[in-house]
Amino acid sequence: ASLWLIVPAAGVGQRMAAACPKQYLRVDSEYILDITLRRLLAALPAAGCIVPLSSTDIWWPSTNASSDGRIATCAGGNERANSVLNALQALAPTAKNEDWVLVHDAARPCVASDDLKRLLKKVGAHSVGGLLASPVTDTLKMASPQAPNTVSSTIDRRHLWRALTPQVFRYGLLRDALQGALNQGVAITDEAAAMEQAGHRPLLVEGRSDNIKITVPADLALAGFILGQL
Ligand code: CTP
Ligand code: MG
Repeated sequence: ASLWLIVPAAGVGQRMAAACPKQYLRVDSEYILDITLRRLLAALPAAGCIVPLSSTDIWWPSTNASSDGRIATCAGGNERANSVLNALQALAPTAKNEDWVLVHDAARPCVASDDLKRLLKKVGAHSVGGLLASPVTDTLKMASPQAPNTVSSTIDRRHLWRALTPQVFRYGLLRDALQGALNQGVAITDEAAAMEQAGHRPLLVEGRSDNIKITVPADLALAGFILGQL
């Protein structure tokens, strides 16, 4: 089975509230999107790579990635799931149902190559695929629906994980699961959720908790620090 990389980069970065989408902010003078793609392709040089971009994107041509012949682009969509499905459809002429598709947020530049390699190794011959995830370390409180600022109980965190990316699934199953979720209008925020909706049971592979998704301004300095340690 071949390996394909999809790096959704069609978001607007509303929570970052910067002058451009957050993937085009710089950490150590390099675009976040360039850092993410450089690190992914260094670890997985044989994979085909496609990046969904917004139709209003004016920054892509100024990236290093735009002049890398290994990287293709396609149109993004309104939601992340639409962006990923567009990329899967763009791969349709060459991808086979049993191929692996690795989806990784453009906004996670701190992904470590040992995490990438461990995920692919653990997923190995799995029929469906899996995701990097990190065990929850905080104590979690359930608020009362009647009084949103009042604790009603403490949630047992022993079986709770934070979903990270990359998430890697079989091409045909992921395409059908995303299409199904979009057809049914179910809101999903990662590929695993679409697979779960379709009745599959993705594998959880423990990943580094410093594989952060850059979301708010404070994450920029944190990403710079983490990248300096990797
Ligand atoms: N993404 C995408 N297409 C969308 C929405 C998001 O390709 N329609 C991408 C983003 O560019 C990002 C990744 O999915 O790399 C994770 O999404 P998120 O962190 O939510 O990014 P944004 O949607 O841009 O941020 P926000 O939710 O704060 O607006
Ligand atoms: Mg978003």
